[in-house]
Amino acid sequence: MGFKKGFLWGGATAANQLEGGWNEGGRGLANVDLMPHGQDRYVIGTGEKWIDHVDDHYFPSHKAVDFYHHYKEDIALMAEMGFKVFRLSIAWTRIFPKGDEQSPNEEGLKFYEDIFKECHKYHIEPLVTINHFDCPMYLINKFGGWRDRRMIDCYVRLANVLFTRYKSLVRYWLTFNEINMILHFPFVAAGLRFKDGENKTQAMINCAHHELVASALVTKLAHEINPQNQIGCMLAAGTYYPETCKPEDYWKAICDNRESYMFIDVQSRGYYPPYALKWIESHQATVPFVEGDKELLQENTVDFISFSYYSSRVSSATPDSSLQTESNIFASVINPYLKSSDWGWQIDPLGLRITMNELYDRYQKPLFIVENGLGAKDIVEEDGIIQDDYRIDYLREHIQAMKDAVDQDGVDLMGYTTWGCIDLISNGTGEMEKRYGFIYVDRDNMGNGTFKRIKKKSFAWYKKVIATNGEYL
Ligand code: BG6
Repeated sequence: MGFKKGFLWGGATAANQLEGGWNEGGRGLANVDLMPHGQDRYVIGTGEKWIDHVDDHYFPSHKAVDFYHHYKEDIALMAEMGFKVFRLSIAWTRIFPKGDEQSPNEEGLKFYEDIFKECHKYHIEPLVTINHFDCPMYLINKFGGWRDRRMIDCYVRLANVLFTRYKSLVRYWLTFNEINMILHFPFVAAGLRFKDGENKTQAMINCAHHELVASALVTKLAHEINPQNQIGCMLAAGTYYPETCKPEDYWKAICDNRESYMFIDVQSRGYYPPYALKWIESHQATVPFVEGDKELLQENTVDFISFSYYSSRVSSATPDSSLQTESNIFASVINPYLKSSDWGWQIDPLGLRITMNELYDRYQKPLFIVENGLGAKDIVEEDGIIQDDYRIDYLREHIQAMKDAVDQDGVDLMGYTTWGCIDLISNGTGEMEKRYGFIYVDRDNMGNGTFKRIKKKSFAWYKKVIATNGEYL
């Protein structure tokens, strides 16, 4: 019993939160480069306000944790922990700096090729997110981001180049990170900036449909280029519980869950379910189908379901706004039975087992947990030790819940990559001091620090977990 042989243990990252080198190697400007640290970040992420060019705000992604220059050292540390898989994403503008060029930037391609080769040196399988929240600014200015169908061609061109160039190096791909984030953080998830007075749901549904069509097209392409390619969708997961057994609360929880599941229903089942079409219609919006879309979606569903899980959520038919908490951008009613992280994200290991069961019941495809972890402040003690027992506790309880889902419920799980295996920039807040890693990086919220890497206590712990295939927790 326990996790299967070949279970993919590892860690996860995203280019804009990790790499830095924002204007090196021919890289072009992306939406993520215009996401500042501080108060403005959230409203920019939601597409309500924006910054057009690099100004005197502090933009943490520009240097991030400088993986761009440290990747060999970082991958060696991951190898030392025994990683079997490393999840990373491609910065679109390294490959196509503007986004609509006909030929790619060799320097960008070479950068990722070197990384993948470095991974294979240690028998680490790369898991590549083709798009983790980044979108070329040139395309945002030209098309308005994913609201425009012409984005699809640019994205497919990118994917084609990646599948061809890395054919012998990468087998596991995710098309879009947390695709349901379009409804919550649309500038980040789809390069969307709202126009005055427009129907926002319509704008977001346009983006969603174009990303869903693009996802199906590249799923098809990936299978054609290499039948061994395995393609996953990616959901920001975390089941909504009803606040009480009042039927209205239960109904609200169903509706809230569906706002996320509708994306994965399309990617995994191949069609928009009736409830999704009704929800869209109830917002005076329509899906911008063109001829052939329905067949394309139906014929090119994903091979596996990947998701992030940090917390469960709570729905109420009559929410009290003073009792709300933030949980990865989505607001939720506070669950009085759970403790919270320092950022108010509620900690619910059983919620992971519940989420896994819901997803597996619904889709009956292998699952892959590609993000999970605790954002916390770490203290470097005088002797350079970082005692992150709180992180070990969080991960231990979540891995136990995941084991229960596998052993007792029969869920088919491919792997587990903890979020921010090396400390990186927070997507939600732009902070550096919200740390998730086993590897500490000397850098603070305002960009001071040496980039020195230090192993935390959790480093040795996770190494043992991997070495025993999850027997030791
Ligand atoms: C997920 C994203 O939403 O949560 C990551 O895919 C993000 O990019 C992670 O970093 C954790 O959120 P935060 O706001 O703590 O960085």
